[in-house]
Amino acid sequence: MSEGQTGNPSAVARADALRARFEALPAGAGSPGPVRLVRAPGRVNLIGEHTDYNQGLVLPAAIDREIWIAFRPWDRPEVELTSAEFGDTRSFSLEGLSPETRGAKSWIDYVAATAWAMREAGLGVRGFRGVMDSTIPIGSGLSSSAALEMASTWALAVPRAPRPEAGAMAAIAQRGENHYVGVNCGIMDQFASAAGRAGHALLIDCRTNQFKTAPMPAGLSLVVCETGSSRRLEVSAYNTRRSECELGVKLIAEREPGVRSLRDVDEAMLDRNRDRLPEVVARRCEHIVLEDARVMDTVAALRDGDLAALGRLFAASHASLRDLYEVSSPELDAMVDIAVAVPGVVASRMTGAGFGGCTVNLVERGAEGALRDAVLAKYQNRTGLKPRVYIVAAVDGAGELQLPA
Ligand code: GLA
Repeated sequence: MSEGQTGNPSAVARADALRARFEALPAGAGSPGPVRLVRAPGRVNLIGEHTDYNQGLVLPAAIDREIWIAFRPWDRPEVELTSAEFGDTRSFSLEGLSPETRGAKSWIDYVAATAWAMREAGLGVRGFRGVMDSTIPIGSGLSSSAALEMASTWALAVPRAPRPEAGAMAAIAQRGENHYVGVNCGIMDQFASAAGRAGHALLIDCRTNQFKTAPMPAGLSLVVCETGSSRRLEVSAYNTRRSECELGVKLIAEREPGVRSLRDVDEAMLDRNRDRLPEVVARRCEHIVLEDARVMDTVAALRDGDLAALGRLFAASHASLRDLYEVSSPELDAMVDIAVAVPGVVASRMTGAGFGGCTVNLVERGAEGALRDAVLAKYQNRTGLKPRVYIVAAVDGAGELQLPA
């Protein structure tokens, strides 16, 4: 494994290792029967940032950085999960689960939140004992929490019970994260993890929760560059951005009947209502309105293989997130700067909530190494932080794995 890259073990080796960890748990490892395996991918968003909670459009792909859980259901109303990554075991009771009784903050909250939300949605849930591992770098903005939630929907499900379709299941997990964990995220991360398609990005309409798949051009690789910078401000700044957008909608709707979200607002409508909006709110709204249009343009450019357009659209999105939405950071800006100077890098921008985390890059096949070398050579000098570079592939969404026993 070269420096700056994370290894991705083969599926069979990974399954064997996780099963062995499960079998090594102290006695009473669940009901008899084979150990089952579920997986859920992280995601990278190609474009359409902060649009999901504005009922807009997003274009993420599920990626081959995944959380896996090896487990056996048991008859106790309890979940006990060991994290191979953190080296600890956590549990919670399925009885009396409620946001009010949530204990100290821990990664197991995402599982409990999902169980709570599935119950609230009228779905049965079942206790299990399991071991999980993850190849999604924590805190990097590649949605490890959403992946844990989506893997949990599979592990908690009652066998043979009807399962809501991916978008509906994503909405259930999002509700758990909003109300139980208390993070006011949109639906994109859960949706991408649930509905991903190998070799494709997903065009998700966050107003209708419908999606279409968009093939990734064969000649392009997806490369994620991690800035290694903290996302400390993320939650409070994220919530502030949400309320600024909501205020924009409220003020525009006073004059424009029928406006329920920024999805109902186009450039002309925004312009004729600017005088009603505080300057900062106008800028936030402008980002959202134009970003929705960039998503559709990106889908067309991917379809047509228009690399120049992809470069322009990613650059415009990044500049808008930096200047209008103000969620970029000096580290993200430096990472994009370094990337776009590399021959063969087609498009580069920050991805996810921002304030740190990762950039997403479309790179001509064969140029991935040049991008990695440039980042490893220049980024640390510019920022003092150690970068990581992941060449990723778009994969299928969460589900149960059928691997040889
Ligand atoms: C985070 C949230 C998503 C979305 C992005 C920004 O990843 O969880 O719902 O809002 O930020 O596009």
